[in-house]
Amino acid sequence: MFKKSFTLMVLMLTLLSMSSFTQAKDFKYVGVKKCKTCHKSKKIGNQYGIWHKAKHSNALKSLSSKEAMDYAKKHGIADPSKDEKCLKCHSTMATVDKKLIDPKGKMTIAEGVSCESCHGPGSKYKKMSVMKNHDKALANGLIMPTEKVCLTCHNKENPFYKPFDFKKMAAKISHPIPKKK
Ligand code: HEC
Ligand code: HEC
Ligand code: HEC
Ligand code: HEC
Repeated sequence: MFKKSFTLMVLMLTLLSMSSFTQAKDFKYVGVKKCKTCHKSKKIGNQYGIWHKAKHSNALKSLSSKEAMDYAKKHGIADPSKDEKCLKCHSTMATVDKKLIDPKGKMTIAEGVSCESCHGPGSKYKKMSVMKNHDKALANGLIMPTEKVCLTCHNKENPFYKPFDFKKMAAKISHPIPKKK
C-alpha cells in the first residue's frame, strides 16, 4: 500500500517536472523591441511609449545613480549595475535563465524591467493571430499580471523599499488598449 502510493507520487512528480520543463523550453524571451513593433501606435494605446517614459524602463540606469553607489559603498558592492543582488529586480534579462533567451531575439540588459517581466516570455504569443485571441495568448505564455507579480520585486528585499499599494501603483503604469467606439 505504502509502496504503491510512493511510486505514484514519484511518477506524478516526474510528470510535473517534465511539464514545467517543456514549458520553459517553449516560451522564450524576445525583448522589448519585438513588442514595440506592434505596441507603439496610438490606435493600440502606445504601451511601448508609456513604458519607455516611465521608471521600469530606467531600472538598470538607476543602479548607477548616486543613491545606488552610496548604498553600494556602504555594503561592499563594487558595481550595483553588475551585481546579481541588485540586478535581480532591476533587469529582466540579467536574471532569467540564459537558456530562456531567444537567440534570434533582441533582448538587452539595458531594457530594465520590460514587458516580459510582467507579461511572460513572448516567443509564442507575439504572433498576431495568437495576440488577437485572448485565450490562445494565455495558452501560449501570456500573463495578465496581478499584484502577486509586482510583489516579486516590490518587497522588503529592496533596500529602497516603499510600501506598495497595488491600486495606486497599477494606475501609475496604466497602459490600456483604447476602447473601440
Ligand atoms: C505582431 C504584432 C504584435 C506583437 C509583436 C506583440 N503584440 Fe501584443 N497585441 C497585439 C494586438 C493587435 C493586440 C490587441 C488584440 C486585441 O485588440 O484584443 C495585442 C494585445 C496584447 C495584450 C493584451 C492581451 C489580452 O488578451 O488582453 C498584451 C498584454 C500584449 N499584447 C503584450 C505584448 C507583449 C509583452 C509583446 C512582446 C513580447 C507583444 N504584445 C507583442 C499585437 C502584437
Ligand atoms: C522585475 C521586478 C519588478 C516587477 C515584476 C514590478 N516592478 Fe515596479 N519597479 C521595479 C523597479 C526596479 C522599480 C524602480 C525603477 C527605477 O526607478 O529605477 C519599479 C518602479 C515602479 C513604479 C514607479 C514608482 C515611482 O516612484 O514612480 C511603479 C508605479 C511600479 N514599479 C509599479 C509596478 C506594478 C503595478 C507592478 C506589477 C503589475 C510592478 N511594478 C512590477 C521592479 C519591478
Ligand atoms: C527585491 C527587488 C529589488 C532588489 C533586490 C533591489 N531593488 Fe532597487 N528597487 C526595487 C523597486 C521595486 C524599486 C522601486 C521602489 C518604489 O519606488 O516603490 C527600487 C528602487 C531603487 C532605487 C530608487 C530609484 C528611484 O530613483 O526611484 C535605487 C537607487 C535602487 N533601487 C537601487 C538598488 C540597489 C543598489 C540594489 C542592490 C543593492 C537594489 N536596488 C536591489 C527593487 C529591488
Ligand atoms: C510592471 C508590469 C508591467 C510591465 C513592465 C508591462 N505591463 Fe502591460 N500590463 C500590466 C498590467 C498590470 C496590466 C493590466 C492587467 C489586467 O487588466 O488584468 C497590463 C495590461 C497590458 C495590456 C492590455 C491593456 C488592455 O486594455 O487590455 C497590453 C496591451 C499591455 N499590457 C502591453 C504591454 C507592453 C507592450 C509592455 C512593454 C512595452 C508592457 N505591457 C509592460 C503590467 C505590465
